[in-house]
Amino acid sequence: MRDESMQDEKERQYAYIERARKHVEKLTKELGRKPVYHVTTFGCQMNARDSEKLCGILEEAGFAESEEENADFVIFNTCTVRDNANQKVYGRLGELKGFKKRNPHMKIALCGCMMQEASVIEKIKESYRFVDLIFGTHNIYKFAELLCSMYEAEGMLIDIWQDTSEIVEDLPVKRKYPFKSGINVMFGCNNFCSYCIVPYVRGRERSRGPKDILREIEALAADGVVEIMLLGQNVNSYGKNLEESITFAGLLREVEKVEGIERIRFMTSHPKDLSEELIQVMKDSKKICRHLHLPLQAGSDRILKAMNRGYTKEEYIALAKHIREEIPDMALTTDIIVGFPGETKEDVEETISVIKEVEYDNAFTFIYSKRTGTPAAAMEQVPEEIVKEGFDKVLKTVQETARKRVKRYQGQVLEALVEEVNEQDDSLLTGRLSNNTIVHFPGSPSLIGKIVKVRLTECRGFYYLGEIEKEAEAYGRI
Ligand code: SAH
Ligand code: SF4
Ligand code: F3S
Repeated sequence: MRDESMQDEKERQYAYIERARKHVEKLTKELGRKPVYHVTTFGCQMNARDSEKLCGILEEAGFAESEEENADFVIFNTCTVRDNANQKVYGRLGELKGFKKRNPHMKIALCGCMMQEASVIEKIKESYRFVDLIFGTHNIYKFAELLCSMYEAEGMLIDIWQDTSEIVEDLPVKRKYPFKSGINVMFGCNNFCSYCIVPYVRGRERSRGPKDILREIEALAADGVVEIMLLGQNVNSYGKNLEESITFAGLLREVEKVEGIERIRFMTSHPKDLSEELIQVMKDSKKICRHLHLPLQAGSDRILKAMNRGYTKEEYIALAKHIREEIPDMALTTDIIVGFPGETKEDVEETISVIKEVEYDNAFTFIYSKRTGTPAAAMEQVPEEIVKEGFDKVLKTVQETARKRVKRYQGQVLEALVEEVNEQDDSLLTGRLSNNTIVHFPGSPSLIGKIVKVRLTECRGFYYLGEIEKEAEAYGRI
C-alpha cells in the first residue's frame, strides 16, 4: 500500500515537471534565451546529494546550469549545524538582492536544514522579502510541484513540514561527477547528541529498502560510476526500521557484488553502533575503501556523557585499536568539538590524549556552536578565550599526528581515482587514494574518472605529490 502511494507520488511529481516545462518555455520567450539556474550548497554530503536532485528536476524542466549566482532561478540549499553556516547564507542573500533588482525575472528559493527552524523563517519573512520560495528537508521530493506553484503565485511561498515518513524513489538526478556518486541509504537521526540540531531539522531515522539502493547503484554503475559513497547520519544503524532483517554490513556485502563499482565509501559511522560484523566485512572486501570516519567529538568521559554520545574514552580507543589491528592500512579520521558547555582545560587534555593515542589521518575540529532548542544550549557556556586556547592546542596536535600518519606511504605506489584537473596548476591532476588522501601528479585530463597507479613521491602534510607509475596500466572505465 505504502509503495503504491509512493509510486503515485512519483508520477504526480513527473506531471509537475512537465508543467514546469511550460513555465520555462514562457520564460524563454520573454528572455529571448534559455533561462539559467544556479544551486548553491552549504553543509554535508547529504545536502550535496539533495542538490543533485534539485539540479535534476531543473534540467528536466528545461533550465540550463549557470556557474554564476546571478541566474534566473537561484536556490540555496542551507545548513544549520553551526551558526557560521547560517551567517554565510544571510551574507550571500544580501548579494542576491542586488542581482534581483537588475533582473526582474529572477526567482530566489531557499531550502535545506536551516529552513526547518521557525526563527529563521521569521527572520526571512521580516528582512528578506525578495525571496520567492521556501521549503524544508521533508518535502524536497515535491520540488517540481513547488516550482510550479511559485511561478503561478504572487509573493513569498512557504511550505515547511515538521516530519515525514515518506521516501519517494526515482526522481531525476544530475550528478556533479560522472564517475562518482553519493547514495542515500538512510535519512534523519535518532541519536540526539545534546549539542546537535540535525535530529530536529532532518527528522527521525528512516532507512531506504535494500532493493531500491541496489537498483540505484546498478543504474549508476551502468552509467559509468566507479566510486560510490553510502550516506546517512549514522549508517551503522541502517535497517533498524525496515521489515526485512538487514544490517549495514549486510547491505555492504550486497553492494560489493555490483559489477562496475570499484570503490565503496560510507559516511558517517557512529562509534557506539559499529559492529564486529562491519569490521569483518570491511576486512574481507576488495572494494570498501581503507578509510573510516569515526567521530570522537570529545575525549573526556564526563563531556561524552553530557554530549549523550553513548561511549567512553576507553571504549572508543579500544574500538580504534581493534580496527587498526584487524585492518592495519585503514585510515581513521574524526570530528572533534572544542568548547562544549562545562568543558575544562583538563577535559581538552583528555581529547588531546585520544588524538595522540589513535593518531588520526585527519580530523575536523570545530568550535562548539550553541544551537537553539538543543539541550546543550541551556547549559553553562565556556568563555570564548578558553575555547580558543583549547581549539588551537587540539588543532596543533591533529596536524602533528596526521603528518606522521599520512607520510607513511611515501615512496609507495598506490591506486588513485583521478577526480579533476588541479585547481591551482592545470598541468597537474588531482586524485584520491583509497584511504582518502589526495595526491597531485602530472597527467592528461583524459584520465579523469579512471583509477591509475601513482608513485607517492613527496608528502606535503595532508596531501602528496606523485607521478603516474605506468600510464599504460591505467584501468577503470574509459
Ligand atoms: N552524524 C554525524 C555528524 C553530522 S554533523 C555524526 O554523528 O558523526 C558533523 C559534525 O559537526 C559532527 O560530527 C560534530 O563534530 C559537528 N557539530 C555538530 N553540531 C555541532 C555544534 N553545535 N557545534 C559545533 N560542531 C558541531
Ligand atoms: Fe548529530 Fe549525533 Fe545525529 Fe550525528 S549522531 S547527526 S552528531 S545527533
Ligand atoms: Fe548541515 Fe543539515 Fe548536513 S544541518 S551538516 S546540511 S544534515
